[in-house]
This record gives sequence, structure tokens and C-alpha cells, in this order.
Amino acid sequence: MSIPFVQYQESADFIRSKLGTFVPKVAMILGSGLGFLGDVVEDPIRVPYGEIPHFKVSTAPGHKGQLVFGTLRGQKVAVMQGRMHHYEGYSYEEVAYAVRVLRLLGCDTLIVTNAAGGVNLNFKAGDLMLITDQIKIFMESPLRGENLPEFGPRFPDSTHLYTPALQDLARKAAADLGIELKEGVYMYFPGPQYETPAEVRFARIAGADAVGMSTAPEVITAGHCGMQVLGFTLVSNLAAGILDQPLSEQEVLDAAEACKDKFSRLVLECLGRL
Ligand code: HPA
Repeated sequence: MSIPFVQYQESADFIRSKLGTFVPKVAMILGSGLGFLGDVVEDPIRVPYGEIPHFKVSTAPGHKGQLVFGTLRGQKVAVMQGRMHHYEGYSYEEVAYAVRVLRLLGCDTLIVTNAAGGVNLNFKAGDLMLITDQIKIFMESPLRGENLPEFGPRFPDSTHLYTPALQDLARKAAADLGIELKEGVYMYFPGPQYETPAEVRFARIAGADAVGMSTAPEVITAGHCGMQVLGFTLVSNLAAGILDQPLSEQEVLDAAEACKDKFSRLVLECLGRL
């Protein structure tokens, strides 16, 4: 199934009608724990997903389901409080729908955050990881189906999905704040079940440092339509099988809560330096 360009336009037109002269520049998709940044946006204009024609509604716990437009650290932002996941039943194209709408509205940069399981044995719960690259080789691409040349080419290059200059900016920001920032490759798993220990070993052999159920489809789509991307993972837990204990959603939410001060300071500092 391919979503026609006109649907993206209709979604964007509806949102534009709420924004007056405001034009967002930085799109922010905030995962577990960081959604509260949407609440500190100055002069906010809130648009619930459910009101936007063709928009999907996120059902995951801890996700509010609205766009917040306004100013944060001097930048004109569009904050997604809540994202769509494939495990909720959406196609990858639907998961990444909002990215294209935000591109049409004027965003040229995407900041993504997520919580994920640490695969790298040097990681511990509570670490922050700068995403330097990603692996999403199972299941289809969000770009599958008819290409929409209004957004980008049929066969987009993926060499620098995570913009090198923004990675440098994040390294410097973390150093200046005295926040330890690990780095690595995020590997996408569709979920909703957490990975098996064998899958985690596989991910490590494949070159992954963290495993999670989001982000990769949105980043592929952002790269396709020419956006710069900066991504961070909160290592909320060590991935399955590393410690001899079961994983739970509560553990992820607790870790996100415990790290939200450090994580938000870093993300806001990067935002201010864009
Ligand atoms: N695996 C996948 N997704 C996750 C995890 C994990 O261990 N922790 C938080 N999100």
C-alpha cells in the first residue's frame, strides 16, 4: 500500500491552518521519558494527532499523542509527543508518516530519541548513546511501494543517515556539559516482544550496540527527504540474556524517568547549538 502525496499535503495543510505564520525547522520525535520536553515549549501550539486528517494515533504507554509547535532553546520546533510503532499495527510507511508531513511544513532537521536495550557489553543501564548508524534489514522499508519523487529518489543513499556534523556537535555538547556519551549502532527489531538472548547475540555479531523497536523507519524516511538527523538512545536496560533476569516495560519506564534530567539537558544543549 502506498500513501498518495495528496494525503501528506492535506495533513500539512490542516496543521498549517493552526500555525499562522509559524514555520517549524527542527522536528523532534521523543521516545519514552522525554515527551515532557513538549511541555516546556514556549508559545506552544498543540495539535492532537487525532484531529489531523490521515494522521495515525500512538497507543504506546507514556506517549501523549500530540504535536507541539513553538520555540525551544531559540529554535522553532515541532515536537512529537508520542510516536507510532510497527508493533501497534501500523505499516512502516504509516510509522514514518509524520516525518514527511513535518518536512512539508518546513522542518529540515530531525532529532530522534528512544529507549533501547544495551547490546555492547561495555554499556550499562542509564548510559546515553549517540546513534552513529543503524541496522534495519528485517521486514520491509518505509519507502517500499511507489516512490514519491516530491520527497526524494527511488534509491536513496544511506551512507550518512545520521548527519556527521550533528554527531560532532553532540560530542562537543556532551563534553561541555560533562555528560558521558557512548556511541554506537542502533539495530531495529519489530517487537513487541523483547528480543531473545540468541537474537541479542546475533545483534552483537552483526555490529549492533543497542536494540530497540523504533526510530529506524523514521530515520530512513527523513534521509529520503533530505533531512539532517541527530539521534540518541537511552540504554534503559541491558538487552535480554546479558543479565540473568527478565525484562519488563516498567524497568524501561523507570530508567527513562531516572535519566530524564541528564538526557533532556543534552538534547536541549544540542538543540540550542544547531
Ligand atoms: N529491546 C528492545 N526495545 C527496548 C529494549 C530492549 O531491550 N529496552 C527498551 N526498549
